Amino acid sequence: MLEYLRAELRARDAQSLTRVRRVAETATAPHQTVDGRPLLLFCSNDYLGLANHPRLVRALQEGAARYGVGSGASHLISGHSRAHEELEQRLAGIAARFIPQARSLSFSTGYMANLAAVTALGGEGTAIFSERLNHASLIDGVRLARGTRQVFGSVAELAAQLQASTAARKLIVTDAVFSMDGHLAPLPQLLHLAERHDALLLVDDAHGFGVLGPQGHGSLAHFGLRSERLVWMGTLGKAAGAAGAFVAAHATVIEWLLQTARPAIFTTAAPPALAHALLTSLDLIEGEEGERRRAQLELLGAQLREGLAPLAARHGWQLPPSDTAIHPLIVWSNEAALALAALLEAKGLRVPAIRPPTVAAGTARLRITLCAEHRAEDVDELLKALRDAA
Ligand SMILES: Cc1ncc(COP(=O)(O)O)c(C=O)c1O
Repeated sequence: MLEYLRAELRARDAQSLTRVRRVAETATAPHQTVDGRPLLLFCSNDYLGLANHPRLVRALQEGAARYGVGSGASHLISGHSRAHEELEQRLAGIAARFIPQARSLSFSTGYMANLAAVTALGGEGTAIFSERLNHASLIDGVRLARGTRQVFGSVAELAAQLQASTAARKLIVTDAVFSMDGHLAPLPQLLHLAERHDALLLVDDAHGFGVLGPQGHGSLAHFGLRSERLVWMGTLGKAAGAAGAFVAAHATVIEWLLQTARPAIFTTAAPPALAHALLTSLDLIEGEEGERRRAQLELLGAQLREGLAPLAARHGWQLPPSDTAIHPLIVWSNEAALALAALLEAKGLRVPAIRPPTVAAGTARLRITLCAEHRAEDVDELLKALRDAA
């Protein structure tokens, strides 16, 4: 086994696919000390810059003072605290704008929420239709589920698959915002197909929640959708600045998850203090401060794209359209992506090179993410460093 693993690791290395971790020594922020060195980061998903917000830090401290640290058990045994309950009710209140009779269920991570939702709703006898660019956690959920699976790459392809399906139950699964691309899925068209073919539509809003829509309510709010067929998953470790996730849906769907979803049942509940802090995070997202931070993200995004467009044109790179804080610069080869990332890092900027299998072979890219705490000077610094590195 060790011999085999060594050979496989060497083979990955030869393809420039070896990944390494960095050690962050200070709080998540655009300016962070990493491995003892100050860096300017364009890679975190803390889009609104809440991860180190004083109100959120205080709320976590208060939560710990009130509830202690560990939850002690799974939600169904004794781990479900008043804080978890309040968080779920608050999220259900938001979801009620898009989903009649909405309830919500909280999870420790988005990965688990996706595994839970897809496996519980995509059981035997269900046909699952999964978007080609979906996040790994959805893909893994689809692989684990007992239903049949088909992958679609466009609305037309999905329509044909649904039309041909004779399955008793159907589940469509998609990212709302594609995490390595930044663009939005055509959710209105997908929901239309779900209505027409009597399917549920599971939407992973990991990168939309907090960023898109009125009050940061996410992609469903952005499009103004409403249906009992929607199953809305959101993560709380990105724009919400903390950790965790939720699934919100019609009460019957949530009850089914509560009763049957293994990643919800067979795991210790997240610390109640975290759920307590997340209530403050929701206050920040929905309030005036959230509005201000979303406006700042838009300004920074426009500045970045204006600077990147001529650079991409000059070097034959691609800057796909983005509706969010994620701005990929596709430079095609793994080597080019790694070389650019290394040159930027030599200048004190961290922008990750994203390679297969995270993205399709031959589409390696720099994934630039913005945070409301970035300043215009930070974006200028990135653009200058990229021009030099190019
Ligand atoms: C689209 C998408 N879904 C789900 C997840 C998983 O969420 P979490 O990090 O909370 O496990 C991520 C990223 O981590 C993501 O980008």
